[in-house]
Amino acid sequence: MSVISVIGAQSGDEGKGRIVDYIAQNCQVAIRYQGGDNAGHTVVNDKGKFGLHIIPSGIFNPNTINIVDAGAVVNFDRMHDELSNLEAKGVDTRNLFIDTRAHLIMPYHKALDGAEENKRSSSQKIGTTKCGIGPCYSDKSARSGLRAGDLLDPDWLKTRLEMVLPLKNRELEYYGLPTYTLEELLKKCADWKAEFGNRIKDTLPIVRKAVRENKNVLLEGQLGIARDLDWGIYPYTTSSNPTAGGACTGAGIAPNRINEVIGVAKAYSTCVGGGPYPTELFDEDGEKLRRIGGEFGVTTGRPRRCGWFDAVAVEFGAWVNGFTAIALTKLDVLDTFKTIKVCVAYEIDGKRVTELPDTQGQAKAKPIYEEFEGWNCDITSCRKWEELPKKAQEYVLALEKLSGAPIKYVSVGPERNQIIIR
Ligand code: GDP
Ligand code: IMO
Ligand code: MG
Repeated sequence: MSVISVIGAQSGDEGKGRIVDYIAQNCQVAIRYQGGDNAGHTVVNDKGKFGLHIIPSGIFNPNTINIVDAGAVVNFDRMHDELSNLEAKGVDTRNLFIDTRAHLIMPYHKALDGAEENKRSSSQKIGTTKCGIGPCYSDKSARSGLRAGDLLDPDWLKTRLEMVLPLKNRELEYYGLPTYTLEELLKKCADWKAEFGNRIKDTLPIVRKAVRENKNVLLEGQLGIARDLDWGIYPYTTSSNPTAGGACTGAGIAPNRINEVIGVAKAYSTCVGGGPYPTELFDEDGEKLRRIGGEFGVTTGRPRRCGWFDAVAVEFGAWVNGFTAIALTKLDVLDTFKTIKVCVAYEIDGKRVTELPDTQGQAKAKPIYEEFEGWNCDITSCRKWEELPKKAQEYVLALEKLSGAPIKYVSVGPERNQIIIR
């Protein structure tokens, strides 16, 4: 039927895993096209509550083929842990594959990520997840990376590692960190091959066949546009492209074959890590959003920064990604707020601005808010648009108008069925 991308419309943690889990019930292929185990995608369904990091959220449908694709980076130790946890809870993981082109997160990448972050001055700290994402993608761009397929070709792997390792060890020495021997890394790679070799393959034929046969293919984004390497708050970004363009390059699917681009946005906003965040709240309302929304990182456990919905930023994301629809999540978190605010413009150097500025502009931006009256009742059992209180409908309709894309899904709780389809 169609190829659907699910993209973070804010700073990550919008509820992508929850939306992907819902849509993947009718999908034949689910693909993670960028990022690595920096993701923390929560899925709550009949099998339990899961925090997925690198495994696509389609894994709960036994008929879905799940692919960690060319644009992603893989830490096989983390994948081992994640698979063990899923299998222990009775999830069938046989349909998980890794494309030969996905890059390997090596132990030195993780070590360097932590060291580089420590070295940054306080205003420059990115607050990375320390999963090795930046150093791994840096090596990929420098053409010094190792790929999942290299595990299947030990001679090639050895040649590559012999070339790369002396440079990596020099970097580690610079930071005063322990170095690695060729033998220990080759041993690790041999272990990964033994465990994952059968899952590593050229996955494009699977994807092409599915697309040609009009099957449903789901592209699962990690993080959100605010942390996109090109369109986010550089340098406080991740090192890949979570945006819709990244889905095309990362999964090998041309733009004209993508039928739907669903932006996932919370009914307010959150952010983990450094960088400007114009609508951040430092008052009781921010504290209340964090408490009711359970806003703590899935990967790092860090408290998330919380704030009001930034319609300027979401509208920018709707343009860059070409959202055909928005999935609005966590509307229920606002159930007890008397007043809800939405940022409709910024004041920068005394001027009203409605185009999202670059990083330094965002650092100076003061939000201009429009206020909405809260609905002050529990909406978690609403399953139809008509069941939502009038004031909640008005709020959603206002966000739709400001964001520039139709709000097709409204999520009112973390469970699979707590969703309204408009
Ligand atoms: P992701 O990284 O985009 O997949 O999002 P996270 O899993 O990091 O964060 C979203 C959090 O919100 C998770 O704890 C979800 O279980 C939860 N969640 C998702 N949708 C809803 C919703 O509509 N209401 C509530 N209350 N929680 C939700
Ligand atoms: P999901 O997929 C929220 C943030 C980090 C840091 C920046 C770069 O669950 O939405 P990285 O480790 O990628 O080099 O960190 O991006 N970050 C996330 N924030 N959700 C995530 O993933 C994130 N992945 C990375 O806090 O500021
Ligand atoms: Mg998350």
